Amino acid sequence: MLQIENLNSGYGKLHVLYDISLKCEEGEIISVIGPNGAGKTTLLNSIFGIADIYSGSIIIDGKDTTRLPPHIISRMGVAYVLQMLNVFAQLTVEENLRISASYSKIKDVNKAMEEIYGIFPILKERKKQLAGTLSGGERQMLAISIGLIRNPKILLLDEPTAGLMPLYVKMIANKIREIRDKRGISIILVEQNVQKALELADKAYVLVSGQIIFEGSPSELKEKHEIMKLYLGVGE
Ligand SMILES: Nc1ncnc2c1ncn2[C@@H]1O[C@H](COP(=O)(O)OP(=O)(O)OP(=O)(O)O)[C@@H](O)[C@H]1O
Ligand SMILES: [Mg+2]
Repeated sequence: MLQIENLNSGYGKLHVLYDISLKCEEGEIISVIGPNGAGKTTLLNSIFGIADIYSGSIIIDGKDTTRLPPHIISRMGVAYVLQMLNVFAQLTVEENLRISASYSKIKDVNKAMEEIYGIFPILKERKKQLAGTLSGGERQMLAISIGLIRNPKILLLDEPTAGLMPLYVKMIANKIREIRDKRGISIILVEQNVQKALELADKAYVLVSGQIIFEGSPSELKEKHEIMKLYLGVGE
Protein backbone atom coordinates (compact mmCIF):
# COMPACT_ATOMS: atom_id res chain seq x y z
CA MET A 1 0.00 0.00 0.00
CA LEU A 2 2.76 2.43 0.98
CA GLN A 3 6.42 1.96 0.31
CA ILE A 4 9.15 4.47 1.06
CA GLU A 5 12.69 3.89 -0.10
CA ASN A 6 15.84 5.78 0.86
CA LEU A 7 13.95 8.98 1.46
CA ASN A 8 15.91 12.16 2.12
CA SER A 9 13.73 15.16 2.84
CA GLY A 10 13.39 18.39 4.79
CA TYR A 11 12.53 22.01 4.31
CA GLY A 12 14.70 24.01 1.93
CA LYS A 13 18.24 23.73 3.25
CA LEU A 14 17.15 22.02 6.47
CA HIS A 15 17.77 18.32 5.85
CA VAL A 16 15.56 16.43 8.35
CA LEU A 17 15.15 12.81 7.21
CA TYR A 18 18.05 10.59 6.15
CA ASP A 19 17.67 7.42 4.06
CA ILE A 20 14.30 6.42 5.43
CA SER A 21 12.80 3.17 4.17
CA LEU A 22 9.42 2.05 5.42
CA LYS A 23 6.62 -0.21 4.33
CA CYS A 24 2.94 -0.42 5.26
CA GLU A 25 0.74 -3.17 3.85
CA GLU A 26 -3.00 -2.95 3.34
CA GLY A 27 -4.86 -2.96 6.66
CA GLU A 28 -1.68 -2.63 8.70
CA ILE A 29 -1.00 -0.21 11.52
CA ILE A 30 2.56 1.10 11.51
CA SER A 31 3.74 3.11 14.50
CA VAL A 32 6.47 5.69 14.25
CA ILE A 33 7.84 6.72 17.59
CA GLY A 34 10.79 8.85 18.66
CA PRO A 35 11.84 11.92 20.61
CA ASN A 36 10.71 15.50 19.95
CA GLY A 37 12.22 16.93 16.81
CA ALA A 38 13.20 13.51 15.45
CA GLY A 39 11.34 14.17 12.21
CA LYS A 40 8.11 12.18 12.76
CA THR A 41 5.85 14.93 11.47
CA THR A 42 8.27 15.56 8.62
CA LEU A 43 7.86 11.93 7.59
CA LEU A 44 4.10 12.42 7.31
CA ASN A 45 4.64 15.77 5.57
CA SER A 46 6.90 14.00 3.07
CA ILE A 47 4.26 11.34 2.33
CA PHE A 48 1.61 14.03 1.87
CA GLY A 49 3.71 16.22 -0.43
CA ILE A 50 4.34 19.06 2.02
CA ALA A 51 8.06 18.64 2.74
CA ASP A 52 10.84 18.96 0.16
CA ILE A 53 12.10 15.63 -1.13
CA TYR A 54 15.78 15.53 -2.10
CA SER A 55 16.05 11.89 -3.10
CA GLY A 56 14.38 8.51 -2.71
CA SER A 57 10.89 7.40 -3.60
CA ILE A 58 7.39 7.11 -2.21
CA ILE A 59 5.06 4.57 -3.79
CA ILE A 60 1.37 4.61 -2.86
CA ASP A 61 -0.83 1.79 -4.08
CA GLY A 62 1.66 0.98 -6.84
CA LYS A 63 2.01 4.57 -8.08
CA ASP A 64 5.05 6.78 -7.66
CA THR A 65 3.84 9.81 -5.71
CA THR A 66 7.23 11.34 -4.91
CA ARG A 67 6.95 15.13 -5.24
CA LEU A 68 3.26 15.13 -6.18
CA PRO A 69 1.32 18.00 -4.56
CA PRO A 70 -0.95 17.40 -1.53
CA HIS A 71 -4.25 17.76 -3.39
CA ILE A 72 -3.30 14.96 -5.79
CA ILE A 73 -2.07 12.73 -2.97
CA SER A 74 -5.30 13.41 -1.10
CA ARG A 75 -7.30 12.43 -4.16
CA MET A 76 -5.34 9.19 -4.39
CA GLY A 77 -6.81 8.16 -1.05
CA VAL A 78 -4.50 9.55 1.62
CA ALA A 79 -5.99 11.45 4.56
CA TYR A 80 -3.72 13.39 6.90
CA VAL A 81 -4.79 14.26 10.44
CA LEU A 82 -2.42 17.03 11.53
CA GLN A 83 -0.77 17.25 14.93
CA MET A 84 -2.26 20.70 15.57
CA LEU A 85 -4.91 23.00 14.11
CA ASN A 86 -6.72 19.99 12.70
CA VAL A 87 -10.30 21.29 12.89
CA PHE A 88 -12.03 24.54 11.90
CA ALA A 89 -12.63 25.97 15.37
CA GLN A 90 -15.27 28.47 14.23
CA LEU A 91 -17.42 25.86 12.49
CA THR A 92 -19.67 23.23 14.02
CA VAL A 93 -18.83 19.54 14.20
CA GLU A 94 -21.27 18.84 11.39
CA GLU A 95 -19.90 21.62 9.17
CA ASN A 96 -16.36 20.33 9.65
CA LEU A 97 -17.41 16.87 8.50
CA ARG A 98 -19.45 18.18 5.57
CA ILE A 99 -16.59 20.29 4.24
CA SER A 100 -14.23 17.35 4.27
CA ALA A 101 -16.78 15.04 2.62
CA SER A 102 -17.63 17.60 -0.04
CA TYR A 103 -14.00 17.69 -1.18
CA SER A 104 -13.89 13.92 -1.59
CA LYS A 105 -15.38 11.38 -3.94
CA ILE A 106 -18.13 10.54 -1.41
CA LYS A 107 -21.54 10.64 -3.08
CA ASP A 108 -23.89 10.10 -0.16
CA VAL A 109 -22.63 12.61 2.42
CA ASN A 110 -25.47 11.97 4.88
CA LYS A 111 -24.76 8.26 4.92
CA ALA A 112 -21.04 8.92 5.42
CA MET A 113 -21.91 11.24 8.33
CA GLU A 114 -24.08 8.58 9.94
CA GLU A 115 -21.23 6.07 9.63
CA ILE A 116 -18.93 8.50 11.40
CA TYR A 117 -21.52 9.07 14.13
CA GLY A 118 -21.77 5.28 14.45
CA ILE A 119 -18.06 5.13 15.28
CA PHE A 120 -18.05 8.28 17.43
CA PRO A 121 -21.54 8.70 18.96
CA ILE A 122 -20.34 11.66 21.04
CA LEU A 123 -19.87 13.66 17.83
CA LYS A 124 -23.53 13.18 16.97
CA GLU A 125 -24.48 14.62 20.35
CA ARG A 126 -22.14 17.54 19.68
CA LYS A 127 -22.95 18.05 16.02
CA LYS A 128 -24.24 21.64 16.41
CA GLN A 129 -21.40 22.65 18.71
CA LEU A 130 -18.49 24.78 17.50
CA ALA A 131 -15.40 22.62 17.11
CA GLY A 132 -13.33 25.14 19.07
CA THR A 133 -15.46 24.49 22.15
CA LEU A 134 -14.98 20.70 22.20
CA SER A 135 -12.85 19.00 24.84
CA GLY A 136 -9.39 17.87 23.74
CA GLY A 137 -10.50 14.27 23.32
CA GLU A 138 -13.63 15.19 21.37
CA ARG A 139 -11.60 17.46 19.12
CA GLN A 140 -9.19 14.61 18.31
CA MET A 141 -12.14 12.36 17.50
CA LEU A 142 -13.46 15.05 15.18
CA ALA A 143 -10.04 15.48 13.56
CA ILE A 144 -9.81 11.73 12.92
CA SER A 145 -13.36 11.76 11.57
CA ILE A 146 -12.59 14.61 9.18
CA GLY A 147 -9.95 12.35 7.65
CA LEU A 148 -12.02 9.20 7.85
CA ILE A 149 -15.15 10.59 6.19
CA ARG A 150 -13.17 10.87 2.96
CA ASN A 151 -12.97 7.08 2.93
CA PRO A 152 -9.17 6.97 2.58
CA LYS A 153 -6.99 3.97 1.82
CA ILE A 154 -4.23 5.38 3.99
CA LEU A 155 -4.74 7.41 7.15
CA LEU A 156 -1.83 9.45 8.52
CA LEU A 157 -2.31 10.23 12.21
CA ASP A 158 0.06 12.64 13.94
CA GLU A 159 -0.04 12.15 17.73
CA PRO A 160 -3.80 11.66 18.07
CA THR A 161 -3.60 11.04 21.82
CA ALA A 162 -1.13 13.78 22.78
CA GLY A 163 -2.10 15.66 25.91
CA LEU A 164 -5.26 13.64 26.55
CA MET A 165 -6.29 12.07 29.82
CA PRO A 166 -5.92 8.25 30.07
CA LEU A 167 -9.62 7.57 29.50
CA TYR A 168 -9.53 9.34 26.14
CA VAL A 169 -6.19 7.82 25.20
CA LYS A 170 -7.69 4.37 25.66
CA MET A 171 -10.88 5.27 23.82
CA ILE A 172 -9.06 6.73 20.82
CA ALA A 173 -6.66 3.79 20.68
CA ASN A 174 -9.63 1.41 20.61
CA LYS A 175 -11.28 3.46 17.87
CA ILE A 176 -8.13 3.41 15.75
CA ARG A 177 -8.10 -0.35 15.99
CA GLU A 178 -11.83 -0.52 15.20
CA ILE A 179 -11.38 1.70 12.13
CA ARG A 180 -8.64 -0.55 10.81
CA ASP A 181 -10.62 -3.73 11.51
CA LYS A 182 -13.87 -2.48 9.98
CA ARG A 183 -12.50 -0.62 7.00
CA GLY A 184 -9.19 -2.32 6.31
CA ILE A 185 -7.43 1.04 6.10
CA SER A 186 -3.65 1.28 6.35
CA ILE A 187 -2.68 3.55 9.21
CA ILE A 188 0.60 5.34 9.85
CA LEU A 189 0.45 6.33 13.48
CA VAL A 190 2.93 8.82 14.90
CA GLU A 191 2.78 8.61 18.67
CA GLN A 192 4.50 9.92 21.75
CA ASN A 193 2.58 7.45 23.89
CA VAL A 194 4.97 4.55 23.38
CA GLN A 195 2.88 1.96 25.23
CA LYS A 196 -0.25 2.70 23.21
CA ALA A 197 1.67 2.86 19.95
CA LEU A 198 3.16 -0.56 20.58
CA GLU A 199 -0.17 -2.02 21.66
CA LEU A 200 -1.77 -0.99 18.38
CA ALA A 201 1.01 -1.52 15.90
CA ASP A 202 1.69 -4.46 13.62
CA LYS A 203 5.14 -2.99 13.11
CA ALA A 204 7.10 -0.24 14.83
CA TYR A 205 9.76 2.18 13.64
CA VAL A 206 11.89 4.25 15.96
CA LEU A 207 13.04 7.52 14.47
CA VAL A 208 15.94 9.40 16.10
CA SER A 209 17.61 12.49 14.59
CA GLY A 210 16.03 11.81 11.21
CA GLN A 211 17.16 8.20 11.00
CA ILE A 212 15.41 4.91 11.63
CA ILE A 213 17.33 3.14 14.37
CA PHE A 214 14.86 0.28 14.84
CA GLU A 215 12.34 -1.52 12.68
CA GLY A 216 10.44 -4.59 13.83
CA SER A 217 7.55 -5.98 15.81
CA PRO A 218 6.43 -4.29 19.04
CA SER A 219 7.50 -7.34 21.04
CA GLU A 220 11.01 -7.18 19.54
CA LEU A 221 11.22 -3.50 20.41
CA LYS A 222 10.19 -4.11 24.00
CA GLU A 223 13.23 -6.39 24.31
CA LYS A 224 15.54 -3.59 23.18
CA HIS A 225 15.91 -2.12 26.63
CA GLU A 226 18.58 0.38 25.58
CA ILE A 227 16.39 1.94 22.89
CA MET A 228 13.34 1.91 25.13
CA LYS A 229 15.25 3.65 27.89
CA LEU A 230 17.51 6.03 25.99
CA TYR A 231 15.20 7.29 23.27
CA LEU A 232 11.71 6.49 24.41
CA GLY A 233 12.03 7.07 28.14
CA VAL A 234 10.48 3.75 29.07
CA GLY A 235 11.88 1.41 31.73
CA GLU A 236 14.67 1.63 34.26
N1 LIG B 1 7.47 23.50 8.17
C1 LIG B 1 8.73 23.50 8.61
N2 LIG B 1 9.66 24.34 8.10
C2 LIG B 1 10.94 24.31 8.53
N3 LIG B 1 11.42 23.45 9.48
C3 LIG B 1 10.53 22.61 10.02
C4 LIG B 1 9.15 22.57 9.63
N4 LIG B 1 8.53 21.60 10.35
C5 LIG B 1 9.47 21.07 11.14
N5 LIG B 1 10.67 21.66 10.95
C6 LIG B 1 11.94 21.30 11.61
O1 LIG B 1 12.21 19.93 11.28
C7 LIG B 1 12.78 19.23 12.38
C8 LIG B 1 11.93 17.99 12.68
O2 LIG B 1 10.66 18.40 13.15
P1 LIG B 1 9.39 17.47 13.20
O3 LIG B 1 8.24 18.37 13.44
O4 LIG B 1 9.34 16.62 12.00
O5 LIG B 1 9.70 16.56 14.48
P2 LIG B 1 8.74 15.62 15.33
O6 LIG B 1 9.46 14.33 15.50
O7 LIG B 1 7.40 15.58 14.71
O8 LIG B 1 8.68 16.36 16.74
P3 LIG B 1 7.49 16.45 17.84
O9 LIG B 1 7.54 15.17 18.62
O10 LIG B 1 7.88 17.62 18.70
O11 LIG B 1 6.19 16.65 17.11
C9 LIG B 1 12.83 20.22 13.53
O12 LIG B 1 14.14 20.72 13.58
C10 LIG B 1 11.85 21.32 13.12
O13 LIG B 1 12.22 22.57 13.63
MG1 LIG C 1 5.56 16.16 15.30
